[in-house]
Amino acid sequence: MTVDRGADVLKVAIVGCGNISRRHAEAYASTGRTELVGTADIHEEKARTLAERFGGRPYGSLTELLAAEEPDLISIATPPESHGELAVEALAADRSVLLEKPPVLSLEELDHVAKVEAISAGSASVVFQHRHGSGAMRAHDLLARGVLGRPLVAVCETLWFRPVSYFDPEWRGTWIGEGGGPTLGHGIHQIDLLLHLLGPWKSIDATAVRLDRPVEFEDVSMASVVFESGAVATVINSLLSPRELSRIRIDTAGGTLEVNHVYGYSDKDWTFHPAPDAAKAATLGLDPGVRKAESAGSAAAADPWSASAGADVPSNHEAQIGHLVDDLLAGRPHGTSLASTRPTMEFVTALYASAITGTRVRRTDLTPEHRFYGMLHGGFRKDEIVEAFRTT
Ligand SMILES: NC(=O)c1ccc[n+]([C@@H]2O[C@H](COP(=O)([O-])OP(=O)(O)OC[C@H]3O[C@@H](n4cnc5c(N)ncnc54)[C@H](O)[C@@H]3O)[C@@H](O)[C@H]2O)c1
Repeated sequence: MTVDRGADVLKVAIVGCGNISRRHAEAYASTGRTELVGTADIHEEKARTLAERFGGRPYGSLTELLAAEEPDLISIATPPESHGELAVEALAADRSVLLEKPPVLSLEELDHVAKVEAISAGSASVVFQHRHGSGAMRAHDLLARGVLGRPLVAVCETLWFRPVSYFDPEWRGTWIGEGGGPTLGHGIHQIDLLLHLLGPWKSIDATAVRLDRPVEFEDVSMASVVFESGAVATVINSLLSPRELSRIRIDTAGGTLEVNHVYGYSDKDWTFHPAPDAAKAATLGLDPGVRKAESAGSAAAADPWSASAGADVPSNHEAQIGHLVDDLLAGRPHGTSLASTRPTMEFVTALYASAITGTRVRRTDLTPEHRFYGMLHGGFRKDEIVEAFRTT
């Protein structure tokens, strides 16, 4: 089903009515251009609670919801292992879907959903809300236009803290229950933003270790990355870091662009330091009076970051869902499409492949024949992975 051109209200539904579902419901409501027609959860009382607060009728499954309602867009906010199957069901019914991160658990699953999307009247988008704050929108635009100079060196850090008790639920800490460790479940936000800003990556050399937490996979991973542009980056993902930090720093030929936050940024969390040569050169040969006036002007010229400031939009579900609703109502493709997130899933796949096999992995290696194409652990036995992730 395609959204009627000129329609001013989008009919939406939410499947999976746990923690994050409220953020979806609030974000839809904040657009003022949606009607929540249904909610669904295998625990129907959770669907009922969400519907009572935000509207729509509750159902016990997506199948029941699709039989009774005609949503234009369905948020899939269930645990990751069910995203692929639910997306296929909704797309096959010609509905659009918004998949929570991580969109799926393997490249094979992503390609399967993409095939169904190709013959559906609906489209598949993915929640990566950090692409949608004003800081990242400006950074993406200025880097793409070359205004900030050629990217050279980058650092991407997700240093978060999850206590041992976080892994108490039986499904946590397991490949089957979570699909992967902090690389997939937590670091994926910064990784996606890094790749969104720097473009296609070429190769990865990675290490993953299990230092402290009771998990089958890593609690820390690190990667050295080479981009097709020639830029290089280091990436670290940790669940052992008490002072939490999410950081992306990009040194370009023109300056250093940096964002420091934890779970969401606003404009004040972004800085740009122009390369000193440009600032100094702008004042050379001028008398002190002129220098003062000229340097004010040249500071703006040398600092395109400050010059590009506009309305401050924090990076959250409201920001992305606002863009998505506008796009669907206008009949435009949404930028954070499933296809646009494939490089991120390729990156996560390659990080695990490199860390488990101890080899460099190129993006071009990840064909359907690759051992890790269908499973992020590559089908290695649990004891083999534990051994690969030992540091002592
Ligand atoms: N974008 C973000 O910043 C962000 C933050 C937190 C969580 N998430 C993602 O959101 C998703 C959900 O996380 P959560 O913390 O809300 O989990 P949760 O466990 O609190 O909620 C998931 C809900 O889905 C229901 N469910 C499970 N299988 C279902 C099915 N087949 N059909 C219908 N309902 C089903 C469960 O009963 C549960 O109520 C995950 O993919 C997670 O990674 C994203």
